[in-house]
Amino acid sequence: MTDEINREWILDERPTGQPSMENFQLRERPIPDPEANEVLVRTRYLSVDPYMRGRMRDAHSYAEPWETGEPMRAGVVGEVVESNYEGLEAGDLVTGNLYWSEYAAVNGAILDPVDTGEVPISTALHVLGMPGFTAYVGMTEVGKVAPGDTVVISGAAGAVGSVAGQIARIAGCRVVGIAGSEEKTAWLTDELGFDAAIDYRRVDDLSAAVADACPRGVDLYFENVGGEVSDAVLDHLNPFSRVAVCGKISLYNLEPDDERMTGPRRLYQRTRTRVEGFINSDYDHLSEQATGRLRRWIEEGELRYEETVTEGIENAPDAFLGLFEGENIGKQLVELE
Ligand SMILES: NC(=O)c1ccc[n+]([C@@H]2O[C@H](COP(=O)([O-])OP(=O)(O)OC[C@H]3O[C@@H](n4cnc5c(N)ncnc54)[C@H](OP(=O)(O)O)[C@@H]3O)[C@@H](O)[C@H]2O)c1
Repeated sequence: MTDEINREWILDERPTGQPSMENFQLRERPIPDPEANEVLVRTRYLSVDPYMRGRMRDAHSYAEPWETGEPMRAGVVGEVVESNYEGLEAGDLVTGNLYWSEYAAVNGAILDPVDTGEVPISTALHVLGMPGFTAYVGMTEVGKVAPGDTVVISGAAGAVGSVAGQIARIAGCRVVGIAGSEEKTAWLTDELGFDAAIDYRRVDDLSAAVADACPRGVDLYFENVGGEVSDAVLDHLNPFSRVAVCGKISLYNLEPDDERMTGPRRLYQRTRTRVEGFINSDYDHLSEQATGRLRRWIEEGELRYEETVTEGIENAPDAFLGLFEGENIGKQLVELE
């Protein structure tokens, strides 16, 4: 297949502050030939995720930074086109950590079969994939969600937040979501069964809005955004409450010395709150349990999901940049023909 073209996005230069199109370059290369034990995968869906902003920074966190001049990585659902790996054959649907590219030749051992049953294959990149798993372990293992809790979720209409809130609802909690548009808050209450939702871009006093929505205070805060949204929720934590720190997207485009990079300034000793950050991969041993439960809830109609789908590899950076503008409801995906 060496005469055909594979388009792939490379990290051209590292962003400072808000990333822009200048940071990416679309490169054309021949479609690779799979070597021994390799599989050629054609991308059907690729996932753009907030954590990618961290990989663009030249700093080690829990993962190595991406190199400039190299293709950027992404969770992908794709189809095997050619296989030199025993156990996979042309036509198989697979998922794995591949690239922002149309094709990839990779060792078959890093791929998993896509096993989404009756639901679309794209769900392997959200509700039945990494974001759904993150919501599950964040709520159950880190947040220790319990019936009767009042649970607040920020970034509530996103891939992780929307699943996290529904898990809390299924667990028998009062669930309050915070999100950035009227369309999103309506979706949370009308479709997903949240008890209340707050549009943080519209309210004048977010702390007062949280107080209104949580008359018995907050037992568990599932933190996705950080910054001022976080401040407003921390004001209302109950004694012995928990904060599951999943992410802080509002801070991802700030440099470490930015004065807005302040700590959790409204955590009071009197509440004896347990604040715990987590990374989903620390809980990989729970993957089967989580996927089994999430799938069952979908089948029973208890768990709903939404996708925002951008078409074409050429639009992948736009889809990624849109995450920081709140352009997605549910999971932001890129679909390739
Ligand atoms: N710990 C882990 O293992 C793990 C794994 C996956 C994801 N995460 C984290 O989980 C969070 C959600 O990830 P996701 O994949 O589900 O993304 P997502 O929520 O689907 O998309 C990002 C959303 O963040 C909101 N946002 C963007 N900038 C914001 C700002 N300045 N202030 C407030 N909200 C802002 C936007 O919604 P609005 O319209 O509501 O503003 C946007 O739609 C991120 O912080 C991510 O890093 C953590």
